[in-house]
Amino acid sequence: MLIDSHCHLNDPQFEIDQKEVLERAKAMGVGQIVCVGYDLASSLEAEALARQHPNIYAVIGVHPHDARLVKEQTYRILKRTAQSPRVVAIGETGLDYFRNLSPRDLQLQAFRGHIRLAREVGLPIVIHDRDAHAEVLRIMREEKAAEVGGVIHCFSGSWEMAQECLAMGFYISLAGPVTYHNARRPQEIATRVPLDRLLLETDAPYLSPEPRRGRRNEPGNVRYVAEKIADLRGITVEELGSATTANARRVFSRMQS
Ligand code: NI
Repeated sequence: MLIDSHCHLNDPQFEIDQKEVLERAKAMGVGQIVCVGYDLASSLEAEALARQHPNIYAVIGVHPHDARLVKEQTYRILKRTAQSPRVVAIGETGLDYFRNLSPRDLQLQAFRGHIRLAREVGLPIVIHDRDAHAEVLRIMREEKAAEVGGVIHCFSGSWEMAQECLAMGFYISLAGPVTYHNARRPQEIATRVPLDRLLLETDAPYLSPEPRRGRRNEPGNVRYVAEKIADLRGITVEELGSATTANARRVFSRMQS
């Protein structure tokens, strides 16, 4: 069995065929799905989806792209929603210095705010890091993210950075890019991260793995990510699947088997 530990089923791109997408995921051996919020509305939707489907869990938070929209009221609503047993983590939060859709000072402020919230409610954190490796590590340290741990999703940093994240108790999650031809860095990470600290994800509808690259991504495609990583590590998909499934349930401790 596989778990898609990070996708956005709450994205409008899944509005018309969500049911078929879930059926295909099941057919591909994907038993559980973690649906991640990217703003307040999509976070509430993720929690509602998780209540309707026993195999879906929710992560709630505001993406760094929308950090400029985060207000005190946002944290109050997130905090209340985090009481739901279907919510397994806070995120996705972090820094995106590639697209800079929100000013950096507001991204930093929102990232700190989300880590504080996670520590307050005792849930792990799901972190987005794009071209902001050193700053992400600095904020994680300053805000004591190690206290709750969590996941660096779609990890794009170096092995050195991965080691620092592992030392802080974080898990490393890999997505479609590990299947791309010139993806030297994620492929190096895929082979070096200890098997008990690795997660698999799609980040659907984005980042479709080979051989689906260029099309809308969906949770069932986590199988292609698993096949590539199993091949790189020289283990079977079954071995990788059972290890990463156990890892997801350990880091997202509210998930049930
Ligand atoms: Ni995402």
